[in-house]
Amino acid sequence: METITASRVCSILPRRDPAGHKGDFGKLLCVCGSVGYTGAPVFASRAAVRTGAGLVFLAVPEQVWPVVAVKSEEAMPFPLPETAEGRFSLLAEEPIRQRAASCDAVLIGCGLGRDRQTDALVRKLLDIDRPLVLDADGLNALDGCPEQLQRRTAPTVLTPHEGEFLRLGGDLSRGREAAAAAFSRKYGVYLVLKGHRTLVADPEGRLAVNETGNSGMAKGGSGDVLAGMIVSLLGQGCGTFDACCAAVWLHGRAGDRAAADKGERGMTPTDLLEQIPYAMKNL
Ligand code: APR
Ligand code: MG
Repeated sequence: METITASRVCSILPRRDPAGHKGDFGKLLCVCGSVGYTGAPVFASRAAVRTGAGLVFLAVPEQVWPVVAVKSEEAMPFPLPETAEGRFSLLAEEPIRQRAASCDAVLIGCGLGRDRQTDALVRKLLDIDRPLVLDADGLNALDGCPEQLQRRTAPTVLTPHEGEFLRLGGDLSRGREAAAAAFSRKYGVYLVLKGHRTLVADPEGRLAVNETGNSGMAKGGSGDVLAGMIVSLLGQGCGTFDACCAAVWLHGRAGDRAAADKGERGMTPTDLLEQIPYAMKNL
């Protein structure tokens, strides 16, 4: 098993063409949020911008759009059809497909909430032919049947914490390393198994462990920040395993900087966002 190092991350981060324009640095689509979860879409999309993406579109359910729009300065939120409870409805399918077609990578899941229609929508969207990050309720929407992912034509990244991993049918009885390796091989996915010492596994058997980060990150919202960082690096053209390793390491490093500044108790996911640039700059 590899340990993710600063020099490895440094070699992964894409060089920026001095003459580059925003279209050269990744166009992303984030499908996130619901009534009750207005922070998650903002954390994910802001993290994507902070990690270097050129353009970030953010699809949210209609009712939460005004709130999310006020909180989004760089990302571009747009409203889509929803259920009465304010979660994405099946009518959101076509607009999401259209937007995804012009994007380099897609994130689905942060703060989606659970609903029969929203879950069905996520499952329908699995055939989008773009690198895809599935997080949080985007994972729960699979209903414990990751077999559906075997039909995907572009790379798939799953970012479960242990609870989500178990709901997906993961088996932790022989330890996290063995579980992550077996799962990604079986379903052909890149797995980021989060927690203290997050693991990254790829379908060919590569396995990496991350040693940055701290318990100040055990707060709602930290996971959304990570999902946005991963999709950002995918959209900028990093290889999938590399994008996951670099994002996980930088996320932890941002957390360590936030802890050095404010302490583990008081730091927040917003502090993580603010530390992302320095985590990358001082490599
Ligand atoms: N050391 C290092 N990193 C940690 C630690 C720790 N002790 N604790 C947490 N982290 C990191 C994880 O590795 C992960 O990257 O913080 C992030 C937490 O992500 P999630 O567990 O996905 O949490 P988040 O989604 O932000 O918030 C909780 O998850 O269970 C759902 O619905 C629930 O909304 C809730 C959400
Ligand atoms: Mg989460």
